[in-house]
Amino acid sequence: MTRYPPLDLDGALVVITGAARGIGLATARAFLEAGARVALGDLDGPLAEQVADDLGPRASGHGLDVTDAGSFAAFLDAAVATHGTPVDVLVNNAGIMPNGAFVEQSERVDRATMDVNVFGVITGMRLVLPEMVERGRGHVVNVASLAGKVPLRGLAVYNASKFAVVGLTAATRLEMESSGVSVTAVLPSAVRTELSSGIDLGVLPTVDPEDIARAVVGSVRTRRGEIAVPSYAGALAATTPLVPERLMGLVRRAVHDDAAIARVDPAVRGAYLRRIGADAD
Ligand SMILES: NC(=O)c1ccc[n+]([C@@H]2O[C@H](COP(=O)([O-])OP(=O)(O)OC[C@H]3O[C@@H](n4cnc5c(N)ncnc54)[C@H](O)[C@@H]3O)[C@@H](O)[C@H]2O)c1
Repeated sequence: MTRYPPLDLDGALVVITGAARGIGLATARAFLEAGARVALGDLDGPLAEQVADDLGPRASGHGLDVTDAGSFAAFLDAAVATHGTPVDVLVNNAGIMPNGAFVEQSERVDRATMDVNVFGVITGMRLVLPEMVERGRGHVVNVASLAGKVPLRGLAVYNASKFAVVGLTAATRLEMESSGVSVTAVLPSAVRTELSSGIDLGVLPTVDPEDIARAVVGSVRTRRGEIAVPSYAGALAATTPLVPERLMGLVRRAVHDDAAIARVDPAVRGAYLRRIGADAD
């Protein structure tokens, strides 16, 4: 039992950012299977439209840039107009992950990372929460990362963005507590998508987009504040600040925690970095 009013997914409207591929697309499929209507937004608008067509009549695809509040508002308006029902669930999933040594990364890429991963999430919440609070019902899922709990070499600014999302989610969850609206952070470990492609993560726990999708859909029932996938990785992450730094150093070396710098396939990684515009500086 939760303190939130139940949210029946049958016919509910779920809007998902960054849904043309990867975790967002798997999440769209899972919500459709649960009976919901789904609006998929993505920077690649044509791809979002194409995959939504393939998903069937309860799905719609839209162009969306989460870094542009006007674009985000237009996406939400189009979703509501298309499906004829207010937004019940927002999944803030769009994200980018430039990698490399901190001192070698450009300010442009730093700002893009924070714009998409942090301000994109803030904008989405600002746009949907007032109406959800007014209706006394709604659910927001922010797809953060275990990189929002555990620092990794080669991902400093990405780490910063995901730590921010974890904090943002926890604080807004408290503010929404008595309104009937829940806010959840889902914290995936490594996931087999283009975002992590070309980085050999070795023994780090790696899961499939469908595993994250299940956790996102499951959060509508449990309304838990934080959900790590896999769950044991969340338990491990929670203990890392307690481990003495020298001992942690040995563990980090054993698991190749510098993979995002030292274990990179330039051809595969280059294709991803080109797609997110993080290759040019
Ligand atoms: N793949 C992983 O290992 C992993 C691990 C932990 C957390 N995550 C998080 O999961 C989320 C989804 O990642 P993924 O692995 O599916 O990545 P992905 O690259 O496969 O898909 C991300 C989608 O977001 C879209 N997008 C990017 N910028 C956008 C913008 N400004 N506006 C709208 N859409 C935009 C892209 O076009 C793409 O379709 C991200 O927030 C990511 O940080 C991923």
